[in-house]
Amino acid sequence: MNFASESAQKLRAPSIRHFSGEWVGKQETLSAPLTGQYGQSGTFSSTYEKLKEQKFPGAAVCSRPKTSLQPSIIRPSGAVTPLRPAFRNQKRMISVSNVTMRYGSKVLFEDVSVAFVPGRRYGLTGPNGSGKSTFMKILTGELEAQKGSVVRPRKLGVLRQDQFAFDAYRVIDTVIMGNKPLWAALEERDRIYEKPELSDADGMRLGELEGIIGDEDGYTAESDAAVLLDGLDIPEDIHERKMGELQGGQKVRVLLAQALFGKPEALLLDEPTNYLDLDSIHWLQDFLHSYDGTLIAISHDRHFLNSVTTHTADIDYQTIIVYTGGYDDMVMAKTQVRSTLESQNAQREKKIAQLNDFIARFAAGTRSTQVTSRRKEVERLQTNDLARSNIARPYIRFDQVRPSGKHVLEFKHLTKMYGDHKVLDGFTANVLRGEKICLMGRNGAGKTTVLKSLLSNYPGLADKEFELDNGAVFWGHEAQIGYFPQDVGATIEHGLTVAEWLHRWNPQSHVEEIRGILGQMLFSGEEGDKQTKALSGGEQARLAFCKLILTKPNILIFDEPTNHLDLEAINALNIALQRYEGTVLLVTHDHDLIDEVATRLWVFKEDGIEDFQGPYEEWKGKHN
Ligand SMILES: Nc1ncnc2c1ncn2[C@@H]1O[C@H](COP(=O)(O)OP(=O)(O)OP(=O)(O)O)[C@@H](O)[C@H]1O
Ligand SMILES: [Mg+2]
Repeated sequence: MNFASESAQKLRAPSIRHFSGEWVGKQETLSAPLTGQYGQSGTFSSTYEKLKEQKFPGAAVCSRPKTSLQPSIIRPSGAVTPLRPAFRNQKRMISVSNVTMRYGSKVLFEDVSVAFVPGRRYGLTGPNGSGKSTFMKILTGELEAQKGSVVRPRKLGVLRQDQFAFDAYRVIDTVIMGNKPLWAALEERDRIYEKPELSDADGMRLGELEGIIGDEDGYTAESDAAVLLDGLDIPEDIHERKMGELQGGQKVRVLLAQALFGKPEALLLDEPTNYLDLDSIHWLQDFLHSYDGTLIAISHDRHFLNSVTTHTADIDYQTIIVYTGGYDDMVMAKTQVRSTLESQNAQREKKIAQLNDFIARFAAGTRSTQVTSRRKEVERLQTNDLARSNIARPYIRFDQVRPSGKHVLEFKHLTKMYGDHKVLDGFTANVLRGEKICLMGRNGAGKTTVLKSLLSNYPGLADKEFELDNGAVFWGHEAQIGYFPQDVGATIEHGLTVAEWLHRWNPQSHVEEIRGILGQMLFSGEEGDKQTKALSGGEQARLAFCKLILTKPNILIFDEPTNHLDLEAINALNIALQRYEGTVLLVTHDHDLIDEVATRLWVFKEDGIEDFQGPYEEWKGKHN
């Protein structure tokens, strides 16, 4: 094979943007070693020149004048494309310097400088509303910090907290959207082609867009995306489906494919384990273990963090500190540092109190020099108050306006097909007042489908697009349902404050009651005047609980309520559900919750639904 001339050919093709040897490029790989160091004046250009001469005699490639540190490819059109200064094995760090972010009087973090080193896997931790998603958006550039700067690699793969954002798109398109410039060019091209008549300007623009699409490997995008999806176990028949039709486990895989599309140097994942069953979480853990770029993952799942991460960046006390090790290591180190700091502070305060005592006693007397020197000492010792931790526990208590009748619910022969796939096959049961039923089973087993079926004739809560294929549902006397759907964020309207939104659910209630409920759920003072649109994932869930505390239904139907919640809130919810006197239907993968709340289980298995009339402990005993 005539390597030189073939490569020269390739380099003349307009779709080639990056020269590569040890340099990272898109298509070619040169075996000749490049020994210069980026940043060393002259070396880079001259090494490049030499290599060019050896490998590409006569190619349409040249470097800029030697004074320039950045060589380039000159395209047939005359356009100059600078070469990317990144070594193949030298992925670039993500680093932030002196970054500050605050909303109103709430400081999320101040003057933070952190570097995320390639090859390490970071957990980004902190309670709900501490600023994890905000920090991640600053890292990706989606949000500008109020102060400070960020250095990031050219390509980052991102999985956002809102896993429902792409529900209206095809799976394959969702993956391709991972390459933003490409997706924008494809969309613009489609828009131009839709016009009834094309102007000259349109024609010109189409030419430019084809250039971008070529540069971004757009002509192989669908097949590249399909290969990625296959690798993540998403079968081909799903590629054309809408994201909204997928269940949690599949959705996360597609969003991961999106993040990986375009070969990013770093992966940033915001709560990737939400909506995943245990098997899928284990799969994700293995997958991330073998990822060799920089990983930053936000999660409230302790086990997941401990298994995956090598370092932990914790947001608390208005700053971000990086600890070595997983979540548990971080908690241990943090507690130690904190208690040393607190005991030093206590000693200092004791000393200040003694000095002040002396000053008070002798200020008016004759020992003025001693008093002055002690005053100075006090000034020196006076410490700023330690920043307060933002870890706090909400107080959740669900009451009922009045109890329902004894026979809460009766349903028969629930049957539901999705295409050829029968998810429910004649499920029949009765539910009595006060029962707490946990629905457990793998992703896609039909848990949400059962809940949707039960709500399919209930005014105000029925999903309009959902239709049962067969079966009948009867709700008993005085049944009042409080529903917490999987996508609870979508039930919170934008354009209102938190307090206004809550008040709408019971306009008769007094402002004090509204403020009281908000306060116990950690929206005190200014937090209650926050716009609903600004809420973090966990805050949305907390606000949805506020609504149930206010409206006091006698049946609670919860679909994975602990996703997005921090440990404190999950605990508070656990206790509230145990104490609740009404009836509960709860879908969750959280075994502690199942263990402590359930009085009855619906276990979704390959061969149907097992209706087990007893707690989890008993069920486990029977099945082991
Ligand atoms: N535009 C805004 N205006 C006012 N406050 C905002 C705005 N955007 C975010 N916030 C607030 O900043 C805080 C941090 O939000 P962020 O989404 O980063 O939290 P988080 O740590 O990701 O929480 P969670 O664990 O619940 O997802 C929250 O209290 C949020 O309400
Ligand atoms: Mg978040």
